[in-house]
Amino acid sequence: MSFLDKIAAAVAPAASDEDRAEARRRVEALSAGEDWLRMIVDQHRQIEALFREAKASANPEQRQAVVRKLATELTGHANAEEAVVYPIVSEDSGKTHAVMAYEEHAMTKVQLSKLERMDPLSKDWSDKLEHIQSAVQQHIYQEEDSWLPDLVENTSPAGRALLSARYREEYERYCGTGGRTFTA
Ligand SMILES: [Fe+2]
Ligand SMILES: [Fe+2]
Repeated sequence: MSFLDKIAAAVAPAASDEDRAEARRRVEALSAGEDWLRMIVDQHRQIEALFREAKASANPEQRQAVVRKLATELTGHANAEEAVVYPIVSEDSGKTHAVMAYEEHAMTKVQLSKLERMDPLSKDWSDKLEHIQSAVQQHIYQEEDSWLPDLVENTSPAGRALLSARYREEYERYCGTGGRTFTA
């Protein structure tokens, strides 16, 4: 069992597709009027789409190009969460949640770096991609199921407004606007 698997297993058994779909429905309902949360969930969808695109890619150049796009999106998203969201998770959801969240991001970065250095046509590459996808799916589920809803419930309206401005700023610092807008 790899370190990522151990982390995921220590937290909870992996969520089922139904669990994840239900958490997504609930967090989408909660994100009305919460720009920070809408941006995060939108980026989660984008990350999920890039995993699907990477798996569907046939030739090595295309696989490497999609993995680079995925790594950029994941890094920009993770940087922004780490800079402005997880400190609030630590206060308003729980210290152990924040520690777990930072650790899962770190492990994902380590595994993504391995993937970027693998032969994109090898079975190891496909296995690694599959593995990272499962870990990221579980991480996204944890965020959407409880860590982020806790902030909607416990963080003040002023704190959440600041979070919206700061999250956008930090995400765009790395990813730019990229032609994607997050207007209401
Ligand atoms: Fe995250
Ligand atoms: Fe996230």
